[in-house]
Amino acid sequence: MSSLLDEIKTGVIPKHIALIMDGNGRWAKQKNQPRLFGHQQGAIAVRETLKGAILCGVKCITIYAFSIENWNRPKDEVEGLMNLFIKACEEELPNLQENKIAFKVIGNLSLLNQECLTSLRKVEQATANNTNLLLQVAISYGSRWEITNAAKNMVTDILANKIDLDNINEELFGQYLLTDPNNDPDLLIRTSGEYRISNFLLWQLAYAELYFTNCYWPDFTKEELWKAIADYQKRERRFGKTSEQITNNK
Ligand code: IPE
Ligand code: IPE
Ligand code: MG
Repeated sequence: MSSLLDEIKTGVIPKHIALIMDGNGRWAKQKNQPRLFGHQQGAIAVRETLKGAILCGVKCITIYAFSIENWNRPKDEVEGLMNLFIKACEEELPNLQENKIAFKVIGNLSLLNQECLTSLRKVEQATANNTNLLLQVAISYGSRWEITNAAKNMVTDILANKIDLDNINEELFGQYLLTDPNNDPDLLIRTSGEYRISNFLLWQLAYAELYFTNCYWPDFTKEELWKAIADYQKRERRFGKTSEQITNNK
């Protein structure tokens, strides 16, 4: 067993890790391969990462698989990615079941083609009762879209007298988002040496610890995940308080 795994297991493990899986294209280019090859290898890295997460006791992983902005990529890349999602749904289902991983998709799913949506829904339904780890996959996802949509749905409920304007607060608003309001990410990892959020979980990441690595996503491994967790364990999460308050548990 890896000594890094043993080491992090003695500390606090983040319950929820969000991942911006970036660098598939550059990884492929380095190898003189088409971008799609990078995306295919990226899917394998997801499988490895999930294994690493389960081994150390992470309860939720949210991966950014395709942003709303990614619809603007060349048509053949978009098509290739949609086909890859469909294929991954078929191929990964046994692995998800075996490891008791629940699968959930978040995003503007009305933009997906029917075949892709059906495949994703099938995996969601088949794995709904799994409790080892929750895998949330952000597809056709944009945080500004999610927040705007939440506002729209909330106003609809106000106009229908289902909720009262005076009762609106952060907690209630959070319930209109696509994620569990009580399960914000503790740690955000972005690969490939880019330092930005790219419209991912803007609300939910309010107090996440941020970790950036130069590693391209297809090269990401269990060890890379554990390295990020080891780094997280060195941080002090103060949530606005002073260091003394945290140390004295006040
Ligand atoms: C991330 O890798 C995967 C998706 C956005 C779908 P990229 O495809 O962005 O890879 P780079 O950034 O071009 O290397
Ligand atoms: C963000 O990666 C989206 C995903 C990882 C799916 P991009 O590579 O598309 O991000 P930008 O556009 O360079 O910021
Ligand atoms: Mg990129």
